[in-house]
Amino acid sequence: MRDEIRRHEHLYYVLDAPQITDAEYDRLVRELQQLEEQHPELITPDSPTQRVGGAPREGFVKVAHSSPMLSLDNALNEGELRDFDRRVRGLLREGESFAYAAELKLDGLSLAVHYRDGVLAQAVTRGDGSTGEDVTPNAKTIGSIPLRVAAQRLEVRGEVVFNKASFERLNQERDTQQLPRFANPRNAAAGSLRVLDPTITASRRLEYFSYFLLENGAPAKASQWEALEALQELGFKVNPHRRLCADVDELVAYCKEWEAKRDELPFEIDGVVAKIDLVEQQSRLGWTAKAPRWAIAFKFPPRQEETLVEDIGVNVGRTGALTPVAMLKPVNVGGVMVSRATLHNEDEIGRLGIQAGDTVLVERSGDVIPKVVRVVKQGETRRPFVMPLHCPECGGSIVRAEGEAASRCINTNCPARLKESILHFAARGVMDIDGLGEVLADQLVDSGLVKSIADLYSLSKEQLAQMERMGDKSAAKVHANIDASRQRPLPRLLNGLGIPFVGERTGQFLADHFGDLDRIATASEAELQAAEEVGPKIAKSIRGFFEEQRNRDLIERLRVERLTFTHQLKEKTSAALAGLTFVLTGTLPTLSRDEAKQRIEDAGGK
Ligand code: IVH
Repeated sequence: MRDEIRRHEHLYYVLDAPQITDAEYDRLVRELQQLEEQHPELITPDSPTQRVGGAPREGFVKVAHSSPMLSLDNALNEGELRDFDRRVRGLLREGESFAYAAELKLDGLSLAVHYRDGVLAQAVTRGDGSTGEDVTPNAKTIGSIPLRVAAQRLEVRGEVVFNKASFERLNQERDTQQLPRFANPRNAAAGSLRVLDPTITASRRLEYFSYFLLENGAPAKASQWEALEALQELGFKVNPHRRLCADVDELVAYCKEWEAKRDELPFEIDGVVAKIDLVEQQSRLGWTAKAPRWAIAFKFPPRQEETLVEDIGVNVGRTGALTPVAMLKPVNVGGVMVSRATLHNEDEIGRLGIQAGDTVLVERSGDVIPKVVRVVKQGETRRPFVMPLHCPECGGSIVRAEGEAASRCINTNCPARLKESILHFAARGVMDIDGLGEVLADQLVDSGLVKSIADLYSLSKEQLAQMERMGDKSAAKVHANIDASRQRPLPRLLNGLGIPFVGERTGQFLADHFGDLDRIATASEAELQAAEEVGPKIAKSIRGFFEEQRNRDLIERLRVERLTFTHQLKEKTSAALAGLTFVLTGTLPTLSRDEAKQRIEDAGGK
């Protein structure tokens, strides 16, 4: 059974070609979990059930690397790449031929993973290059890192990355929870891997691309190319767009090709890494104190352009938050026309010192929304941004609560808020209503057919078919997708409701603790705080949400529409400490803090 699950893990996480649905996969894992519960003596560290993460730790343990994890020298243009090639030829024997293994340079965080007796034994971040941090429980939650391999002892080095879609979703989730956005996929990868609580890593969709195969700190194969093929054979994810280049001209062509095609990739890349293919030649070339002489990173130029801020407007989000947006004189940034850039909030405007009329530097990275990097030149006539007193969409009052970065439209019936709520509700990973995108949501709200999320469930196929760009066929599909969303589990529904600070993760904890939407809706702030990770701020927000009559009506209508309100409760061994919250500080004479935490939790405390 474990082999079968491993096979599906490999198909899904490494080959991106699943053969079964997520639900079928979950069923297999649950069955294995039940078997292991009945026979705990059969649990092994490489069982697919052991990816869950486990309890948080108190700190990271430092680990020395088997050989230094150094950085690479950069080439910033074609000329510098050809200089590098000339240097290499000067160092090798006269006329000696060599090839380049060219790989895409993924923008992530490097990680060394050690296998002993064929089982994942330790994962270590790069750190300062000679010593890194042990993040083994975190790394185990990454599906594309095999828990076991068909080899006794080896070390794999590679890059932990976020794909663009997961990165965007993570930032949206953080918006919901009013947490600061991650600036780029690399920061997000670091912030997800270097955390003491591995369940956080597990909740993020990280991936691992491998590029080095070592034995005792030295290359395991005679060439880089063979190593990449061996890694793939061992079940690791290896970038499929690698190329063996016979000379620098081929390498330059590869760099140009991927600079032009980088937006087509699901991952953010910031360049190309070229390595002299043969290890024997690599060792003759050797290393400087900082980097190998046998490899170079060709860095793509940043996609930045200067343009004029014609105006600063506002956009109304689903929580009513008003986001200032820079309206730009349209400019081509690396092949894409950019005419708007989000400014996030008033604090960000202050930080940038930006006003309408200024010339700014805008940057685009992959799918990520363009951002203003800085003001290049202040306009001769500039106009400071003033947050409007009334919502530009509905005229409702705008309020900025104390201690909050965002100003909000307080009209809960604001059509702009409703449109955004529908989009969030229908989003992938929330209620998964495929086909319900921006164009349709706008029409449904503008036509008056949908005045609340609950109205989605009473739409007929005919009503949907009357919308623009909707044939009978697509209308039937959307109708079926709306219908199917009634089955989404409670944590997703909780996320979908758009309660401030309640995203997917908090939704899961609430469902696990209360098991039922009605119990959450009627719980007091103190009772809510008994759920994992729910503090006073989140509890207050949930209470506030369910106290609003409008939201209570929404819940009643969703009940009538038979959405999923119940959830399988996690079993507790005892509840002697239920409802009590403990703070552990300092040194405990007989227990570690982790042990004490575990015992409190086992007894139902928090
Ligand atoms: S080789 C000594 N290969 O880029 C060899 N690095 O600027 C160093 N990176 O620290 C690594 N993709 O985090 C290598 N295919 C690739 C890579 C890659 C991304 C990162 C890695 C490294 C940094 C060097």
